Amino acid sequence: VFSHVDRAPEDPILGVTVAYNKDPSPVKLNLGVGAYRTEEGKPLVLNVVRKAEQQLVNDRSRVKEYLPITGLADFNKLSAKLIFGADSNAIQENRVTTVQCLSGTGSLRVGAEFLARHYHQRIIYIPQPTWGNHPKVFTLAGLSVKTYRYYDPTTRGLNFQGLLEDLGSAPSGAIVLLHACAHNPTGVDPTLQQWDQIRQLMRSKGLMPFFDSAYQGFASGSLDSDAQSVRMFVADGGELLVAQSYAKNMGLYGERVGALSIVCRTADVASRVESQLKLVIRPMYSNPPIHGASIVAFILKDRNLYNEWTIELKAMADRIICMRQQLFDALHARGTPGDWSHIIKQIGMFTFTGLNSKQVAFMTKEYHIYMTSDGRISMAGLSSKTVPHLADAIHAAVTR
Ligand code: LMR
Repeated sequence: VFSHVDRAPEDPILGVTVAYNKDPSPVKLNLGVGAYRTEEGKPLVLNVVRKAEQQLVNDRSRVKEYLPITGLADFNKLSAKLIFGADSNAIQENRVTTVQCLSGTGSLRVGAEFLARHYHQRIIYIPQPTWGNHPKVFTLAGLSVKTYRYYDPTTRGLNFQGLLEDLGSAPSGAIVLLHACAHNPTGVDPTLQQWDQIRQLMRSKGLMPFFDSAYQGFASGSLDSDAQSVRMFVADGGELLVAQSYAKNMGLYGERVGALSIVCRTADVASRVESQLKLVIRPMYSNPPIHGASIVAFILKDRNLYNEWTIELKAMADRIICMRQQLFDALHARGTPGDWSHIIKQIGMFTFTGLNSKQVAFMTKEYHIYMTSDGRISMAGLSSKTVPHLADAIHAAVTR
């Protein structure tokens, strides 16, 4: 009965890892998925995570009971504080509901399902380009996806005018997906002043902000600075949604830890919204897993561990910045044609190189370098040892 089923294509991002794993070459390099690697090219478990895990394991009073549908209460409170700030009025006035979800993707999906059921407008605008999974998550949740201009390939920067025009002509009430910081895949963010203009435009048209915050702490190395776009929208008293992920900033990728927060106008509305979020979650996966959220809550609650975390996070962000400089210098040293200054200007985990899909295919075939076909490279996957190999490959790709 399943013989008619066609083979589906691999995922454009996670499929890169599948192809990489099959390649026997000793020089192969995976710059596809956004996952941090050390200078030795190894995945990193943060020291604070190890410490928290150790203490959790030693605590014999801990059990494996089901969490509530909304997840671990401490984790939810601390996550809201992390993104909105300890002094947030919305938190103090109990106008925020936060539910633990399955990392960023799960949080986006739960938020989108809620909007499809309870919000009057089904249209969501996503930036062009954006993370490849966004349109799929929103479409399958029942929203209708449109795009707004974001990236200008000629300047390799923000197409701010295009963005304002497209959001300016969006139907009133439309939902708008915004990357809180370190836009994926371009590494191009609006300035704070531009953010404020976006905010004013969106509020004047009643557009609903839905932030994806997957890289808090990774753009600037500061958790507070990277939350400024979100906090600006909270400060004006209006509604918004935020999906948070701890995959990158705590290195908890496979633990699937994240949170969805919805900021409402009143505490009463927030509590009714939460009751409906439970109806979205329960038939989907019942309630979220306990381990990863316990680690996060443990770290966020303990002042010493929190401080240690910020230091480790900054070290990851700094290593990526260092890789940017090294790659830029290596291309400069080779006299590779083109202006590569965007490598040092873009922020976060990725560089949107401007290489086309043919050049990417060439680099994979000849140099065993794996990356997404849109020319995005994960800077977090590079090390001082592998920069020359990548620079050789880019040089060959653009000069052939
Ligand atoms: C990425 O863009 O590489 C990450 O967000 C990982 C993923 O799930 O695609």
